[in-house]
Amino acid sequence: MKIVVVGTGYVGLVHGAVCSEYGHEVYAYDIDADKINAFASGQAEEIEKYVNEPGLTGIIKETLGKYLFFSSDLKSFIEGTDAIFMCLPTPSNLDGSTNLTFYDAAAQDIAQGVAQRTDKRRIVFVNKSTVPIGTVRHLQEIMDSHGVENFGVASNPEFLAEGTAISQARRPDRVVVGCDHEDDFRILRRVYSQFVNHVRIKYIETTPETAEAVKYVANTALLTYISFWNGVGAKIGEKFPNVKIEDLRLGVTADDRISTWGSFVSNGAGGSCFGKDIASLIYQLRNVNVSTKMLEASYEVNEYQKVYLVDRAITEAGFQFNNKAIAVLGLAFKKHTNDMRDASSIKVIESLLGKGVAKIRAYDPLANESAQAVFDPSHNVLFEKIEYFASAKQAIEGSDAVFVSSDCEEFRGLSRTIEETVRPPYLVLDGRRMIPDFEELAARGFVYLAVGSMATKPE
Ligand code: UGA
Repeated sequence: MKIVVVGTGYVGLVHGAVCSEYGHEVYAYDIDADKINAFASGQAEEIEKYVNEPGLTGIIKETLGKYLFFSSDLKSFIEGTDAIFMCLPTPSNLDGSTNLTFYDAAAQDIAQGVAQRTDKRRIVFVNKSTVPIGTVRHLQEIMDSHGVENFGVASNPEFLAEGTAISQARRPDRVVVGCDHEDDFRILRRVYSQFVNHVRIKYIETTPETAEAVKYVANTALLTYISFWNGVGAKIGEKFPNVKIEDLRLGVTADDRISTWGSFVSNGAGGSCFGKDIASLIYQLRNVNVSTKMLEASYEVNEYQKVYLVDRAITEAGFQFNNKAIAVLGLAFKKHTNDMRDASSIKVIESLLGKGVAKIRAYDPLANESAQAVFDPSHNVLFEKIEYFASAKQAIEGSDAVFVSSDCEEFRGLSRTIEETVRPPYLVLDGRRMIPDFEELAARGFVYLAVGSMATKPE
């Protein structure tokens, strides 16, 4: 099949690369010529300036020029195309609604290009990025308004999680395809031929609107489940003496019906999608007069969770942040990524700065550079107080407390680093319960305060 991917962000690039691996002829297009040149260079350091996903660069190197082509000139490869995948950024407006500016601009360009093609074979326009329920009709109108002929519109949402996207794209748990016409289902069955009739992969064909809704319901269900554990499970561990949150989690999730994923209590879930998607679904449901109380609660629990450890440090450990140096470890929204979008560390650092700390000593194994772009002192002069370090040990040196804000595996060994680097009394705030031997830390005089348990103070 000849496939065009419009937008070479995370979703578009992963989808395009994996489709090229399956022998489709893939043309990846983006208006950003610098980005396209970087991908077309096939050089790891160039590609990874834009997208850093394990396994992705290897696929690009292997298929580049054979099955995978990059261009910022859309019209040059529109002839003979079977499917065009829309993989554009769809950020949030302030009211939670979805901003379709990039999407619309790209759809107009594509419509113009496709309207001028000489071959009139069936072409299907597929929404891959998350767009509000019903956007597929909007796409149809844009194509109609440019006189595009013999086309269909479809929705085929992306369910990949960062860090594991390539293995998931190669073997997804499900492929959801929403079309109006059998002709379009047939085209997409050929695109995904390796997944149709697969023993383990669910290949689901439905209406375009249902497919669009599946994505929103899936992401809001996942966030709501995380919020359930943070808002209920974690609080039980924090308020009832002798309740051990790890054992509570094991006991509850031993029931096959209750997922282990999402049951790890945390200082909030971040990333580019959960917050944006729940805000958008709230907006969409309010527009049709549906009560959104449940989703609002789930969103609020998640936002509160990002900062409440800072308040607990004051009320439960009697810690005063004013003029202190605080180490913040784990800046990206989760391990194995440099992605800072909606990272809990942003709220944590803003809250610490608001409490008058003298210094933030920051460290992330991958995200120090991307964090500096977020904490730009020209936006907020307080960000000048943030200093970046090459290791957790260096960040901890000379600090008065440490805040663990993400789940990087190396943080599991922190108790030793802390003992070797600083002296008690010293406050350890653990937003991800990354320190398994925290009781030993407390026994040596450190104060340990984590999501999901009461403060552990020295005798
Ligand atoms: C999420 C979904 O998991 C994907 O299915 C979806 O396709 C994707 O959004 C998207 O819409 O693009 P992602 O944002 O990459 O994927 O990250 P997750 O691995 O789901 O983690 C999200 C956040 O939840 C992270 O901050 C993570 O640390 C946190 N989390 C996860 C918890 O706090 N507790 C858990 O038990 C699990």
